[in-house]
Amino acid sequence: MSDKNFKKAIIVGLGGMGIRHFKALTKLKIKIVAICDKDNSKFKKYNIPKNIKIVQNYKKLLGMNVDLVCIASNTSSRFQITKDFLIKSKIKRILTEKPLATSFLECKKLSSLVKKYKKKRVYINTFRTISKNYIKIKQLFKKNRETVTQVFINSPSAGLGNMGSIFFDIGNFFLDDKVISVNAWIDKTGTINPRGKMFKDPGGYGVVRYKNDKKLFFDLSENTALPYEIILKTQNFECKIDELNNEYIIKKRPKKLMLKPNYYYLFKPHKYKLSLSHRYDVVLMTTFSIKKLFEKEFQSNIAESLKAMEIVFGCHYSDNLKKTILFPFNKKFFNKKVNFA
Ligand SMILES: NC(=O)c1ccc[n+]([C@@H]2O[C@H](COP(=O)([O-])OP(=O)(O)OC[C@H]3O[C@@H](n4cnc5c(N)ncnc54)[C@H](O)[C@@H]3O)[C@@H](O)[C@H]2O)c1
Repeated sequence: MSDKNFKKAIIVGLGGMGIRHFKALTKLKIKIVAICDKDNSKFKKYNIPKNIKIVQNYKKLLGMNVDLVCIASNTSSRFQITKDFLIKSKIKRILTEKPLATSFLECKKLSSLVKKYKKKRVYINTFRTISKNYIKIKQLFKKNRETVTQVFINSPSAGLGNMGSIFFDIGNFFLDDKVISVNAWIDKTGTINPRGKMFKDPGGYGVVRYKNDKKLFFDLSENTALPYEIILKTQNFECKIDELNNEYIIKKRPKKLMLKPNYYYLFKPHKYKLSLSHRYDVVLMTTFSIKKLFEKEFQSNIAESLKAMEIVFGCHYSDNLKKTILFPFNKKFFNKKVNFA
């Protein structure tokens, strides 16, 4: 088949996530024509074929005209790299990793640039809210006229930026209301980040309050280490998501009890496993984000990402100032930098 029949892509950052982008693109039969990593050893480590151009400075790729760029370097560098591809490159589609940036100011700047460069498509690789499994749960609640009012995040030590940004995005997706405030306590254990000790992304615990008395309780304390679980609660339903083990359990109040006051809780709920549309697989789920960028109707998820990051930085401020942080938060909070990996 001629080269013209293939879509083409380039990758910036070839760490654990960059190689998943590589596999996702390969799965979708998108031709990878160039890869950048500032660390030369990564090309050898992953045995990159000789026909793929390799560079150590992403600026050498800004002049290329391909269909897509995947940016999977560490968070601090992604701000400038994403900005440069938006402003200086002809590439129309940009898939960039989460967390969005290392300060809320940079998150805001990226969001303004995405609005300004309307012809470009930017997607943050937070694929859960477009996963059929998550959409299925939302539809189940909707069909039963149930409203999610509480979300519980029970997570191992996973970093408020790294996994917190994902959990808050999921919380916002299900609670679907405005955030009012955040109270949080940052974990002071100082666990060394597995991606390098220069990265600082502590865990923590706290509560995010939303309009209409909705709440998200989270615990990413650094003294627990089992796979995360997410519990969504409505008046008559509960869904426990054990994502990594592909087990989504629904509990339901029996119909005849649904008319009774909430104090009637001494019963055995109906319990069943939700049938899933796909298994947990980061490569597969990254293909959802890539496909999104090629859909006819496209909407960036940068606004959702910004909302999740406001909660992440809100947690840090709440702990620093030892107080409740009201949303939308004050401009003086925009500058704080946290060096997420
Ligand atoms: N969406 C997801 O589910 C998901 C999963 C894992 C990781 N991630 C995110 O992806 C990002 C990368 O994670 P990782 O596990 O691959 O980290 P990593 O540290 O293993 O890899 C990052 C790579 O980027 C390279 N790099 C750093 N700065 C660069 C620059 N200026 N130019 C070129 N290359 C540069 C590094 O040399 C390294 O090879 C993180 O921010 C992480 O949060 C997302």
